[in-house]
Amino acid sequence: MVSRVIPVEDFDLVIFGGTGDLARRKILPGLFRRFLSGQMPSTSRVIGAARSDLDSDGYRAMIREAIDEFGGDEKSETAKLDAFLAQLDYVPIDAMGTGGWSDLSKLMRDGVVKAFYFSVAPSLFGPLAERLHDHGIAGPDSRIVVEKPFGRDLASAHELNATLAEHFDERQIYRIDHYLGKETVQNLMAVRFGNVLFEPLWNNHYVDHIQITVAETVGVGGRGAYYDRSGAMRDMVQNHLMQLLCLIAMEPPSEFEADAVRDEKLKVIRALQPVEPHHIVRGQYQAGPETASYREDAENERSFTESFIAMRTEIANWRWAGVPFYMRTGKRLRARTSEITVVFKDLGHSIFKDDGVAHHNILSIRLQPNEGIDLQMTIKEPGPGGMRLVDVPLDLTFAEALGDTVEDVADAYERLIMDVIRGNQTLFMRGDEVEAAWAWTDPLIEGWTARNDVPKTYETGSAGPEDALMLMHRDGRRWRDIKA
Ligand code: BG6
Repeated sequence: MVSRVIPVEDFDLVIFGGTGDLARRKILPGLFRRFLSGQMPSTSRVIGAARSDLDSDGYRAMIREAIDEFGGDEKSETAKLDAFLAQLDYVPIDAMGTGGWSDLSKLMRDGVVKAFYFSVAPSLFGPLAERLHDHGIAGPDSRIVVEKPFGRDLASAHELNATLAEHFDERQIYRIDHYLGKETVQNLMAVRFGNVLFEPLWNNHYVDHIQITVAETVGVGGRGAYYDRSGAMRDMVQNHLMQLLCLIAMEPPSEFEADAVRDEKLKVIRALQPVEPHHIVRGQYQAGPETASYREDAENERSFTESFIAMRTEIANWRWAGVPFYMRTGKRLRARTSEITVVFKDLGHSIFKDDGVAHHNILSIRLQPNEGIDLQMTIKEPGPGGMRLVDVPLDLTFAEALGDTVEDVADAYERLIMDVIRGNQTLFMRGDEVEAAWAWTDPLIEGWTARNDVPKTYETGSAGPEDALMLMHRDGRRWRDIKA
């Protein structure tokens, strides 16, 4: 099967924070891959805008280096890199002042999609939005892309939404959560809503529990100051894990369209139950043989911020009442792996005089690495020796069957940027969704702050604190292994 890449409309994309980490690591290498696949029109412009006093050639040299350092397979396409870089420009800009704005205005073309990526501190969202309007650069059809963190609690998120709303309609605002752009997350929706098999089983009659794990091996060194003010709850749970939980738990939307999907996600967030203190485990990593401890990385010897969190929550609606949702995420764990697991209930009665082992159907959705979806099925072990049962995974991604279509899998950022140009908000968070997520998160953080909760330490390279294992054991369940 041949991959079908359809070029997007002609566009001008301005990246504020164009010399920053995200632009160099993700946005520009991603755009280069879309360029190589033929999705980026040859007339489109990408304009970096930042404080640094560079010219366009200097910027192109910087991005050439960035692609060399952070790019993947596309690095070998050096011949095409020149053509891509020729589509780049740069404007030094003063976000809080007047410098650079008329230069930017001159570079922008009429009659093409205009998108502005705010890859900057949230305190600059307001000033940027204001100047884009004052200089007539942004119009009613322009789009803006904003990054997390979107606030640090309900009040600040509400304020940010209000600031953006002064200048842009909700249909113009694209709040990125890059987990929604991951290939398997899309496939999860296809598997759930494109097949008749799962819907009848997708409820508290058949599902025992659901686990969501996002484990990382990296520490917080290099961004300790930011992280120490956030912790795993604000950095990962409030956004990435909650988004995954929404997609797994939401009712089928009437169509795969932005507001239909987001309405359903919002209902899930609003139905999330408060988490009991004994259902939350927070942790901090200790030093490893060659790595620093969390407190050293954060440069805060008295820090009580969590680099790991595990919790058990429930969703109070007809579909999910009584089904525990276990979530955990942390840094410096045994392996980098992100996985959602739907564990189905035991058979009510087994007709096989088996080994006494409980056989479960388990649907696992692996986001990374080795992305894929498989369904654990119980079958007869082939060959002689009587009726012996064995559990085997059924691969639902069919990489082999689809041949070369799987070769051009877009990374989350590039997919989401192309969606911005297409004007498709399905994979972006709506303002009310973000606020609802904070409304659920805030009391949990306030709770442990008031209790002076001290995070448990855990070993670098482990699965987190012992108490996190106990969280499941107490319920007679166990976490899936953290393995690459
Ligand atoms: C970011 C967090 O949003 O996601 C980081 O701020 C985290 O702390 C990262 O490391 C994980 O993303 P990914 O795509 O590597 O799983």
